[in-house]
Amino acid sequence: MKKPLAAVALATFLSPMMNAQTKPHLDPKKPIEERITLLMQQMTLEEKIGQMNQYNGFWDVTGPAPQGGSAEKKYEHLRKGWVGSMLNVRGVENVRAVQKIAVEQTRLGIPLIIGFDVIHGYKTLSPIPLAEAASWDLDAIRRSASVAADEASAAGIDWTFGPMVDISRDARWGRVMEGAGEDPYLGSKVAAARVKGFQGTDLTSPSSIAACAKHFAAYGFAEGGRDYNTVDIGNATLYNVVLPPFEAARNAGVRTMMNAFNLLNGIPATGNHLLQRDILKGKWKFDGFVVSDWASIGEMVTHGYAANLAEAAEKAAEAGSDMDMEASAYVTHLAQLVREGKVQESVIDDAVRRILRVKFELGLFDNPYRRCDEAREKTIGSKAHHEAVLDMARKSIVLLRNEGQLLPLPKQGKKIALIGALAADDNSPLGSWRIASDDHTAVSVLAGMKRYDGNKLVYEKGADLVKGETAFTKELVFNTTDRSGFPSALKAAKEADVVVMVLGEHGFQSGEGRSRTELGLPGLQQELLEEVYKVNPNIVLVLNNGRPLALPWAAEHIPAIVEAWHLGTETGNAVAEVLYGDYNPGGKLPMSFPRNVGQVPMYYGQFNTGRPVNTDQNVFWSHYTDTEKTPLFVFGHGLSYTQFSYQKLEVGRQQKKGQPVNVSVTVTNTGKRAGREVVQLYIRDVAASLTRPVKELKGFELVDLQPGESKTVRFVLTDKELGFYDNNGNYLVEPGVFNVFVGGSSATSLESAFTLE
Ligand code: NOJ
Repeated sequence: MKKPLAAVALATFLSPMMNAQTKPHLDPKKPIEERITLLMQQMTLEEKIGQMNQYNGFWDVTGPAPQGGSAEKKYEHLRKGWVGSMLNVRGVENVRAVQKIAVEQTRLGIPLIIGFDVIHGYKTLSPIPLAEAASWDLDAIRRSASVAADEASAAGIDWTFGPMVDISRDARWGRVMEGAGEDPYLGSKVAAARVKGFQGTDLTSPSSIAACAKHFAAYGFAEGGRDYNTVDIGNATLYNVVLPPFEAARNAGVRTMMNAFNLLNGIPATGNHLLQRDILKGKWKFDGFVVSDWASIGEMVTHGYAANLAEAAEKAAEAGSDMDMEASAYVTHLAQLVREGKVQESVIDDAVRRILRVKFELGLFDNPYRRCDEAREKTIGSKAHHEAVLDMARKSIVLLRNEGQLLPLPKQGKKIALIGALAADDNSPLGSWRIASDDHTAVSVLAGMKRYDGNKLVYEKGADLVKGETAFTKELVFNTTDRSGFPSALKAAKEADVVVMVLGEHGFQSGEGRSRTELGLPGLQQELLEEVYKVNPNIVLVLNNGRPLALPWAAEHIPAIVEAWHLGTETGNAVAEVLYGDYNPGGKLPMSFPRNVGQVPMYYGQFNTGRPVNTDQNVFWSHYTDTEKTPLFVFGHGLSYTQFSYQKLEVGRQQKKGQPVNVSVTVTNTGKRAGREVVQLYIRDVAASLTRPVKELKGFELVDLQPGESKTVRFVLTDKELGFYDNNGNYLVEPGVFNVFVGGSSATSLESAFTLE
């Protein structure tokens, strides 16, 4: 797959080097806006449009194979200064090679901005983003993003296409693994933490990279959870659920946003004026730039919103898509559209100013090779990075069930059977979206458990999960017939004191293009689980998955269930530490786990409906006749090896609008081990001009408590927490009664109330 870009660069005819000192826009003492003006005065229309053009490199493909853009043509455009950015070029040597063409061979020497999907790490991988969100630990999440930025920038990358801040309530959608789950409040906090982690405090730092909040907007609400599908949502959801994490990213200083593949209420997000011009750049005054998603400008033709690529270019540019990723729509058509008067040059100027602004901020004009340092590149995969991702992995684990305190496992004298193909897998735990990492570099659960050698550990896979090769771009083929490993697995289980089964989804089963209609265990895993249970019910089920799964049988029968997601490079070490109690798990679910697919979309912040409960013993209330209304595991749920109790919930009762509402609660560790609790605060605005959900998360605090220790946790609710958006996007704080709930999950019933006057 590799093309010798460095060779191409060297072989390319070198035009005269520009003398940096004689170019006034290169004067670092001048303010950035002035430098941009000075540069833009020298740019032809084609050169300006070139800045709006982004091409894929030739190493990794993260979308359908590029159409109509031969390598030759791309290099020609690069040399003409018609390329402002490239994605999927990585490694110092390769980045330096393309950057050299841009800087030394184009007329104006404008550096490229090099983008890459750094989704949960570059080479040393953190847990998938959904898993990280389960830590609710914003400092840890910020640190994890900064480790990712450190490694990516050491490989020449200036800009990540992350964080994905799409809220989704549909576990069928494979991309839930890339986000922070179902809740806009948690999602906003995590979005801001990730932006700060990637960008650091100084964008010119060689180890900072620009972040990109995506996908603007509403991509997580694809109908039926089918990726790339239509989105049709009301304004209440748009303003109160979809947009807040984007606004939080903007307020955290995110420098770019990516629009989305989906239609939003009939208009493609990529061509959506309301989203990009009115809200993002208008109301929010966002002064960074918007990149399209992969070829999404071209897809506006396929959607039926533009007759041809030229019209798509016109509509996308007018709507505020500043950079065209891989559709070649701008580079091919925009100049002509401007000449015909169909697109105003001011639209182009605005886009180019935004793009150049970010390039200046990244320090690329002062040193285009500031992230091209061979010595730094060698630090990728350092011990410190492994320690950091291990720390994040531990914190991401959620203990879903622990009947009879089966966990933690004793460290000595027991026979343990470890069963399941995923248990020995050192590739799948890396998760989806890890294109720069090396395959088979995860610590498997088997390897992690082997480090504890006081027990007798027997491994049996039971059955393969996947048949044949797995790859980021390919559909998986599951084993549904080969049970030849069952007998030895059952024998091992029978002879063991405890069985640990690692089951769930393969790492490539979630992510882009991986929607599912079933949320159970794929392949033969459910059957294997039930067969093992028959011979030894003492089972610890360790789940690997990139989305909520629906496992009602397991939730009823299996005594201990550990949600271990896809935890990245250090997976097995983190899981083993939790199983053996060297780490007391404290994660909480960032998405509700449904009982079955039919309940989806499943989320805690539902509306009450007019008929929430069964009062008359008849069927006429909002429910299902064949299953319960509640999820299997609620949002915010997560156990610990210790227990916590909540007392003394105190809330200031009468409150004036604009004045803060103080809430406090005392949390006590009533168990025998030190542990961490995520103390969660929810409100309900009981009657409002726009109906509010039955519960809305509005605060959380992490508390670490020794056995017997108590802490008083305080929250302050301000207008920021108490209001909501009306259907025109206006923020309202309305008087009336608010219920307040505090506890260890969204199901908490510890409740108080206050009245806002
Ligand atoms: C398409 C995905 O939707 C987007 O998230 C990603 O950043 C781009 N491809 C580039 O790989």
